[in-house]
Amino acid sequence: SRLVVLVSGSGTNLQALLDACADPTYGASVVAVGADRDGIEGLARADRAGVPTFVTKVGQFTSRDHWDRALADRVAAFEPDLVVLAGFMKLVGEDFLARFGGRTVNTHPALSPSFPGMQGPADALAYGVKVTGATLFVVDAGVDTGAIVAQVAVPVEDDDDVDSLHERIKAAERVMLVDTVGRMAREGFVVDGRRVRLGG
Ligand code: GRF
Repeated sequence: SRLVVLVSGSGTNLQALLDACADPTYGASVVAVGADRDGIEGLARADRAGVPTFVTKVGQFTSRDHWDRALADRVAAFEPDLVVLAGFMKLVGEDFLARFGGRTVNTHPALSPSFPGMQGPADALAYGVKVTGATLFVVDAGVDTGAIVAQVAVPVEDDDDVDSLHERIKAAERVMLVDTVGRMAREGFVVDGRRVRLGG
């Protein structure tokens, strides 16, 4: 399977995928990495792996819709089977979903449907839950609302702050992402309403 990965930050999830894809039995390869901003470690990781990159910034376009279409065009040029949003901090729009809906996944650092949005670890800590985690889901038009492909639970420790909790989540999130994307690539998957089954 051909993967296009979109990032906005440090790209540790991307790195886990790049490392996994180095093994030919994994069944997927990262054919391009896109970002919505320059100068991020995620792009540097792609460069070091010899993977082509592109940057499509909202500010370069007259509207969010134009940006969304341009982003979809850039992604389409690499003919992906699966698009992976790995710490991509923008919502994709209607055009993008018309072309890549059903084969775009995102990872969220909380157990959906709890704590959607940008502050999953902080919201879990503030609420006082003792277990949180990470969710891989098929992207839809909502914020972290898509059909769930995989989840992993992570304990909240009494002395956690947002950073220590997010780091523990991210360690589990990377393993889940690599395992699940590999299975999606090798076995296929079916989206049936809100339920996702791995295997053709
Ligand atoms: C991940 O926890 C992702 O779910 C979140 O931001 C983090 C990205 O980390 N929304 P990285 O860029 O992959 O290191």
